[in-house]
Amino acid sequence: MGSEIDLLENYPRTKRNLDERQEQKTEEDRATARRFDRDFFDGDRRTGYGGFHYHPRFWQPVVPTFREFYGLTGDHSLLDVGCAKGFMLKDFAEAIPGLTVSGIDVSEYAVENAVEGMEDHLQVADARELPFEDDSFDLVVSINTLHNFDRPGVVTALSEVQRVSRKWSFVVLDAYRNEEERRRIEAWNLTALTVLSAEGWVKVFDEAGYEGDYYWFIP
Ligand SMILES: C[S@@+](CC[C@H](N)C(=O)[O-])C[C@H]1O[C@@H](n2cnc3c(N)ncnc32)[C@H](O)[C@@H]1O
Repeated sequence: MGSEIDLLENYPRTKRNLDERQEQKTEEDRATARRFDRDFFDGDRRTGYGGFHYHPRFWQPVVPTFREFYGLTGDHSLLDVGCAKGFMLKDFAEAIPGLTVSGIDVSEYAVENAVEGMEDHLQVADARELPFEDDSFDLVVSINTLHNFDRPGVVTALSEVQRVSRKWSFVVLDAYRNEEERRRIEAWNLTALTVLSAEGWVKVFDEAGYEGDYYWFIP
């Protein structure tokens, strides 16, 4: 079994007001967000990010944590499942010269609007059916993406991560460890279909045969 480890400890924390976000959301906003098209990335705040732009302050501080934890070098390969416009992959590729980086995302809009330099590294695909052979990548990462499925879909997607990874994997999922965190996550959530307690997720990992590392997104 993998470890519960916060490899995103250096990712900048959001300052968005949670209660405000909950008030503004409607079921229509959620349905729009779940299409993961322009409205989700570069539309209004009610239906997503409200503008999804590259800035090195997000992932650059995070890469060294991964590099040290897994001992990543330019001889390794990395797949990002739910890579969006490839911001994280860009910073990994720049910090670890030679690292082979690939990303998949269900969003045609995100892949068509890949960040400069990542255009040839991203492809449109569904996390539940990864278009790769078994054991294709040294490290498979999926951040805030796999909870967007119902429970059977999550199990399939986790088993896909396990299948294409030959060494390591790391996933981040919407989770809560107490009632206050549950309230916060419900206020924040726009697209997730499966939000579980930390123990609940560990049971899903068992069911999926997922043996990689993991941590929680708690707003
Ligand atoms: C909250 S965003 C996270 C993006 C990025 N991983 C990050 O941490 O900044 C969730 C991403 O999951 C993608 N996604 C949603 N459903 C998906 C699916 N079925 N297969 C692959 N990606 C999916 C969305 O398009 C979106 O880019």
